[in-house]
Amino acid sequence: MASRPAAQILRQASRQVSRQFVPAVQKRTFVSAVSAARAAPKAAVTASFQQSRGVKTIDFAGTKETVYERADWPQEKLLEYFKNDTLALIGYGSQGHGQGLNLRDNGLNVIVGVRKNGDSWKDAEQDGWVPGKNLFDIDEAINKSTIVMNLLSDAAQSETWPSIKPLLTKGKTLYFSHGFSPVFKDLTKVEVPKDIDVILVAPKGSGRTVRTLFREGRGINSSVAVYQDVTGKAQEKAIALGVAVGSGYLYETTFEKEVYSDLYGERGCLMGGIHGMFLAQYEVLRERGHSPSEAFNETVEEATQSLYPLIGANGMDYMYAACSTTARRGAIDWSKRFKETLKPVFNDLYDSVHNGSETKRSLEYNSQPDYREKYNKELAEIDDLEIWRAGKAVRSLRPENQK
Ligand SMILES: NC(=O)c1ccc[n+]([C@@H]2O[C@H](COP(=O)([O-])OP(=O)(O)OC[C@H]3O[C@@H](n4cnc5c(N)ncnc54)[C@H](OP(=O)(O)O)[C@@H]3O)[C@@H](O)[C@H]2O)c1
Repeated sequence: MASRPAAQILRQASRQVSRQFVPAVQKRTFVSAVSAARAAPKAAVTASFQQSRGVKTIDFAGTKETVYERADWPQEKLLEYFKNDTLALIGYGSQGHGQGLNLRDNGLNVIVGVRKNGDSWKDAEQDGWVPGKNLFDIDEAINKSTIVMNLLSDAAQSETWPSIKPLLTKGKTLYFSHGFSPVFKDLTKVEVPKDIDVILVAPKGSGRTVRTLFREGRGINSSVAVYQDVTGKAQEKAIALGVAVGSGYLYETTFEKEVYSDLYGERGCLMGGIHGMFLAQYEVLRERGHSPSEAFNETVEEATQSLYPLIGANGMDYMYAACSTTARRGAIDWSKRFKETLKPVFNDLYDSVHNGSETKRSLEYNSQPDYREKYNKELAEIDDLEIWRAGKAVRSLRPENQK
């Protein structure tokens, strides 16, 4: 389909939507839909909330699920709930940074534990954590804490487990942001002590987004789960911690389901799959004589700048409605063929996650001493692909990038 400026798509979307989708979308225009998009999900589900003691059952397309929300845990309640706790944030990477600063801004007693010679120590100091006051090495931080939040990289969780496990004494709580280490314990060797609560809050986004949404007064969606409940309070503690680190809504799951869906999703539509689709489409266009700019615009620029935001704001039908009838006819037809072709690949991927192959590969690769250099080399190779070099030129023409 032809690339059209966003404003044109917006106008067409609003015309088509109000003409054709009146009952379904209540005469949404795209502009109003986008401006309301942040509030919309809540408004849309409010009608189907069934609330009892702060727990909400929400009907997700016919399946009832339990969701917890930040509104049930105002800051005063969090401060009261954690008044006797010291939270040790072990690791200060993407999640450590986001969750740690949110906990600190919420007024909780949080300390950071990282190795002294690493980059994270310097990063933490730059963010105002003070050595000897609320910044310690890992062992010392764990010893001072009641709640240990293991936010090391997944490979590092496995590597450091022999020294961390003996410090996890009775009465402490162990917190993860990924089910990876305990679920794949045969490979990671992370066998948790039997006498402590083990819980999970997994934000569905990067640590940077955890922080940004919190600062905007919103919250990220997170999964919440209990692996081991010794005190009978594990679930409640996990939900409270989820809110304290910056979650807006917490969706109930298990450690297993969280890790399987997470590894699967990032290898699929979220990252690997979409990169593969971009490359395949771009290469065919180039091999068939199209220019780099045309191939890039038809593959990436229009997707990320125009069409995917429409899906994000109001769904796939809304995106289709915003496009020409020519585009719509072809896209609906071809979506079936893509689904049939790709589904076996997705099944292979799920098997590879479920049987531990992905975990094994990740642990082996990410435990190598030179893993950062190797990634940097791979990322430089991606950066150097023609498609992404063409993308730089296209982005340089955006008004905001022109002086
Ligand atoms: N990033 C995400 O988008 C995301 C989203 C949801 C959940 N999670 C989960 O959150 C957890 C943390 O992920 P992350 O992405 O924040 O991790 P990360 O950015 O990769 O952070 C790595 C941290 O681990 C430390 N580390 C690495 N190797 C170490 C070693 N051998 N000994 C001691 N410390 C070591 C690093 O310290 P140095 O600086 O000293 O190396 C750094 O503080 C993981 O379980 C991950 O799956 C991540």
